[in-house]
This record gives sequence, structure tokens and C-alpha cells, in this order.
Amino acid sequence: MYTTLATELSQGIYTITINRPDKLNALNKDVFTDLDTAADFIKSNPEIRSAIITGAGPKAFVAGADITEFGGLDKSAAMALAKRGQDIFLKIENSPKPIIAAVNGFALGGGCELAMACHFRIASDNAKFGQPEVNLGLIPGYGGTQRLTQLIGKGRAIELLISAAMIDAATALQYGLVNYVVPQAELLDKAKAILQVINSKAPVAVAKCIEVANTVFDETKDGYDEEIRSFGDCFATDDMKEGTTAFLEKRKAVFTGK
Ligand code: COA
Repeated sequence: MYTTLATELSQGIYTITINRPDKLNALNKDVFTDLDTAADFIKSNPEIRSAIITGAGPKAFVAGADITEFGGLDKSAAMALAKRGQDIFLKIENSPKPIIAAVNGFALGGGCELAMACHFRIASDNAKFGQPEVNLGLIPGYGGTQRLTQLIGKGRAIELLISAAMIDAATALQYGLVNYVVPQAELLDKAKAILQVINSKAPVAVAKCIEVANTVFDETKDGYDEEIRSFGDCFATDDMKEGTTAFLEKRKAVFTGK
């Protein structure tokens, strides 16, 4: 199904490994096509409860957009490329099933943007984050100016954007860009352990949490109204009845996702 991704589905967790290690997993057209397909597959496959995106090899998560594909692009082609990247990353951000980034090395440019489109990030201790586009006479095109500002605040974001500085995993943790930093050998196990906990929760409620939290950054929606609506929707689910009944009966809830 994919030419640039290695995937594995185990215990409801779909692990996606971007698999161009000799090019530090740079995002070319084929990776975009595959990530787009993968995001649809995560949504539609009932066996998948959550997903991890990581990079192949010990060195890089994703070292950016594939710079070799920039040659010869005119203004409208460049805008189309940015739109394509933004649409795929929005699909990831709006996934009803959690998608987390396990950042195993360089997350630069489009790599940092991909990690930021995920619902949250875990980093290995060798990870490095940055938006080095100004080194190339460019700016981020796949949502980086927006999500970096959302995640770490305007002052820190603008400094990183205009200096092209790279930050290490410890700084990313301090900035709130990542939730955890672990030794590289433990990265995927840590990601899976977190997702196993999340996978035991009520799926519709998990999806609604993501959807409503995302409205904070969507000026077309009133997040408080969305929260009221989604709170009400949850009351119409079997899982809400099961969760509250199980609590009162002092037993573990068994959720069906309905
Ligand atoms: N696009 C295309 N190819 C890339 C790439 C990218 N964004 N990042 C790395 N590569 C390729 C290199 O060209 C090299 O290919 P080659 O072996 O055929 O020459 C290979 O991946 C290994 O990278 P290299 O630069 O030799 O590794 P390094 O350890 O010396 O440096 C980085 C690592 C991440 C610092 C460096 O690769 C880099 O700066 N990459 C570009 C980062 C960037 O500007 N990203 C934003 C793009 S908009």
C-alpha cells in the first residue's frame, strides 16, 4: 500500500515509520501521498485505535521537506505544495483517533511541522527541533508559523523562526513542545505504553476531546459551544452508560466505541 512508509498494527496501535533513512526521511511527494493514505486508513480501520509516527534510523525523525523537489517551482506551484502539505497535516491534526509523534532525531522544517500536527510529541534524548527555512530564503509552509506559536508562545516561536536555531530535546521539553524525553532505545515503548492507556478509554469521548480542543485555534468555531454540544453527544453513547454504570458498580468499564 505504501512506498515510503513501514507500518505495523499491534494491539490497536498503528506504528508508521517514515522510511527514507538515507535522505533523513525528508518529505517528498511520495511521502505526502503515503501519509495522506495513512491518515485515511487510521480513520477508517476499526482495528486501529491510535497511531504513532516516527522516522527510520537513529538520526532523523524527518529532516524537512525534500529540498531537491523545490528546484524550478514557480510561485503558484509553491503555493500548491504548501496547500497540499497543510491539508495532510490538518487531516492528522483532526484525526478522531490519537496520533502521536515519536521524534527519534532531527525534526526540522517540515519534520517539526509534522510532529506539531500530531496530537502530542515524545522525543528521544538526541532529538533536535527547528524551523531552518530562513537559511533557504523561505518560511515554513506546512503550518509551522501557526503551530509553533500555538505550542511554545509567540516570543519563543518568532525567535526560532527568524534565527533558524535548533533546540535540543531538553529545551523542547522546557518549552512544552514535547511531553516527554526518553533514551532513544525506549522511545517507541514509551509511546506505546501511553497509547495503551488512552486506548482503554471511551473512543467517542477521546475523539470529542481532540475535536473540541482543536477548536481553540479555529476562529470559525466557538469552543465553549462545541464543548456543550459534544458533552451532550457523549450522553447519547453506550460508552457513557457503561462508564458511569461500571464506576457505580465498582468494576472496570468495557467500552465498545458506540
Ligand atoms: N531534503 C533533501 N535531502 C535531505 C534533506 C532535505 N531536507 N535533509 C537531508 N537530506 C539528505 C542530504 O542531502 C544527504 O543526502 P546525500 O547523502 O545524498 O548527500 C542525506 O540526507 C544525509 O544528510 P547530511 O546533510 O549529509 O547529514 P548531516 O548529518 O551532515 O546533517 C542535517 C544533518 C539535518 C543538519 C542536514 O541534513 C540538514 O541541514 N538538512 C536540511 C534541513 C532543512 O533545511 N530542512 C528544512 C527544509 S525546508
